[in-house]
Amino acid sequence: MCGIVGYTGKRAAMPVLISGLKKLEYRGYDSAGIAVTSDDGILIRKQSGKVAGLAEIVEQEDGMLAEAHTGIAHTRWATHGPPTTLNAHPHEGNEGRVVLVHNGIIENHNDLRNRFKAQGHTFKSDTDSEVLAHLVESHYQGDLLEAVTAALKEVEGTYGITCMAKDEPGVLVVARSGSPIVIGLGDDETIVASDASAIITYTRQAIYLDDNDIARIEGSKVDIRSLDKGAVSRTPSEIDWSPGAAEKGGYEHYMLKEIFEQPEAISNTIRGRIDLNRGTAILSGLNLSPRELVAIQRLLIVGCGTSMNAGLIGEYAVEDFAAIPAEVEQAAEFRYRNPIVGSRDMVLAISQSGETADTLAAVREAVEKGSLVAALVNVVGSTIARETSRGIYLHAGPEISVASTKAFTSQVSTLLMIALKFARAHRLSREQGIKIAKEIERIPELVEAVLKTNDQISEVAAHYAHYNNAFFIGRGYMYPVALEGALKLKEISYIHAEGYHAAELKHGPIALLEESMPVIALLNEGPGQEKTLSNVAECKARSAPVLGVITEGDEEARAACDHVIEIPSCPQYSSVVPAAVALQLLSYHIARIRGCAIDQPRNLAKSVTVE
Ligand code: G6P
Repeated sequence: MCGIVGYTGKRAAMPVLISGLKKLEYRGYDSAGIAVTSDDGILIRKQSGKVAGLAEIVEQEDGMLAEAHTGIAHTRWATHGPPTTLNAHPHEGNEGRVVLVHNGIIENHNDLRNRFKAQGHTFKSDTDSEVLAHLVESHYQGDLLEAVTAALKEVEGTYGITCMAKDEPGVLVVARSGSPIVIGLGDDETIVASDASAIITYTRQAIYLDDNDIARIEGSKVDIRSLDKGAVSRTPSEIDWSPGAAEKGGYEHYMLKEIFEQPEAISNTIRGRIDLNRGTAILSGLNLSPRELVAIQRLLIVGCGTSMNAGLIGEYAVEDFAAIPAEVEQAAEFRYRNPIVGSRDMVLAISQSGETADTLAAVREAVEKGSLVAALVNVVGSTIARETSRGIYLHAGPEISVASTKAFTSQVSTLLMIALKFARAHRLSREQGIKIAKEIERIPELVEAVLKTNDQISEVAAHYAHYNNAFFIGRGYMYPVALEGALKLKEISYIHAEGYHAAELKHGPIALLEESMPVIALLNEGPGQEKTLSNVAECKARSAPVLGVITEGDEEARAACDHVIEIPSCPQYSSVVPAAVALQLLSYHIARIRGCAIDQPRNLAKSVTVE
């Protein structure tokens, strides 16, 4: 949550910072700010609203702002204090000698604020981050690294910070605890950011700080220490995303680009991981032999939002293929309810970003309980990826749009592979395994087929864009798809949408059905289809408009609906992917027709690093 960029080096800092903020804006976009240092002191500019508003102001300025070679910048998702200009970062200390940007939450900010107020300090904002700036400055005696080190020892909470001092122009001090900081290593320059997408335009060599790391950076010189252990050495790693991967590439929105990238993203996810001969999946990152796999008697899947919905599909597949119990739990619930995790259970955490606070805490709780823990993560080097010794990277490429699309379908494809791997160890025959493996390999082609119907889906969307509410219904594998379809629609179009099990409709929601309450029904072939068709008849009898997602050529299903979107014929376990893609496009077009800010829906953030 919130995006941080910092620069020190040979270039003018401001364009680097603004372009970095634009890349990070998906992390938060309610206000933005920038500060630069030079021999003339510190200059700060901030502005409520999106980065474009800040860019418009600062790009017209010349003088110090245009010329300084060191600076920090921030795009905010408000936690403490409303999204006003005063609450925007960077924040200064009481005397303006220290300035910083901060992600995370300083939990003891009230105590610290009261202490400083008693000393006569005045605060300009309502933020916990400004309190941290005062704290650092109160320790400052000419050495920023020492001041930040001393300050952080007094802090409770989480932080990713980048600081500068008036008396040390050219120096950045960064630190992390619970909120990521990546240091991009260039020639005679260093770019720091809260994630790699702001860095890859300049360098692919990056150091991911660990919790409690603190670093002093000047030009290309980076000295890292641990708050408690003194100097530490961190090995740089290569960021394997191409610079273009985080650009819009001619699409109107990142979301549309990412929807269309899905055949490639899923191909990258499954490449080299399917063994057709043995009818299984090769997931070496799990680091589990068939013998160890057999010993696992239950899978507990944790995640939030779209990742949790992917987990629900994983639950169906694991039970269906491997006949071992699987359960999905919202990560926050898992961490706080003292879960029962046995020695024969495996906890699988799913997170696109690898930074979601609740999912990370669930991982830590599972580790604490002595469980086998694995993670399914997209962002290489992210905290969850680093804290779990077993894991599978999605390789879906950077996902910028706040509404998750390609990460979801890559997660689902990976979960099908995990289910297959478990199943082969537990009970599935080679022949059955080969059949499933072939179907998983077909998924990119199924998605391609749906993408070709984009124009038709756009036409269908026009019939549903004016409603204020919608139900999504499905059964079996299609039930989690209904949940995800409803989530996608509400997050980007602001239409109130609910996903329901088709059988649950009669237990309450049916009372709401009328002409103005459309039902989007997952009616593709497979177990339960007949029953959902009956539910659709019940909806039609109550005048609800029905849009069906049906299997190509299924005339009976077509006749039952007012409008349809077709997906190719395939087993239900793999149809979840093309069906989800169809619903992504439906939501996208509805949101476009309604004129919504598709890539930056109000109040949301891509990576939720606070509870
Ligand atoms: C936020 C995002 C969602 C995402 C969820 C979990 O709510 O807006 O798109 O599904 O966090 O994120 P993760 O990175 O853990 O998958």
